[in-house]
Amino acid sequence: MFKKLEILDEKDKHLRKKSIESELPLSKKEKDLIDRIIKELTYSQIEKYAEKYNLRPGMGLAFPQLGINKRIIVIVHEVDDGEFDNYVVVNPKIVSYSNEMIAAEAGEGCLSVNREVEGHIKRYARVTIEGYDMDGNKLRIRAREELSIAFQHEIDHLDGILFYDRIDPNHQFYTEYELRLI
Ligand code: NI
Repeated sequence: MFKKLEILDEKDKHLRKKSIESELPLSKKEKDLIDRIIKELTYSQIEKYAEKYNLRPGMGLAFPQLGINKRIIVIVHEVDDGEFDNYVVVNPKIVSYSNEMIAAEAGEGCLSVNREVEGHIKRYARVTIEGYDMDGNKLRIRAREELSIAFQHEIDHLDGILFYDRIDPNHQFYTEYELRLI
């Protein structure tokens, strides 16, 4: 049985709060919720299931989007056709980042933002993330390109920031000469 998550809309106040650090290890309830998130994000990126369950494709979700203001993020990254890497990071921190900046050419989307928002968002091309896994073991993850953008997007959620806050109203789009678009 597959039961869809109730993902909060951008207007909900949970999306604008700064989340608190989570205690470790996570509870059984939190781990079960993470299983559901991984499943739903994976299904959302597989056309057959996305259609069947009416899921909008998404590669990441942060706990505040479910009304829980704890610093926990989940990313399901398609590395090859139908092959996914899952990342669950508790209390994530960006500990280093590249000088090089990039932007997703098509802009970013968010499962809490149910409308099209146009614009390029400057992100670090590469980041190193430190945090903990669900059992409290230390994690260190290096991310580049699309995955780097995903981590920055999800960590922003923990600070009440939505992607479009970072669109510069005076410079909504960049050219390839100004910024590497991926
Ligand atoms: Ni989002």
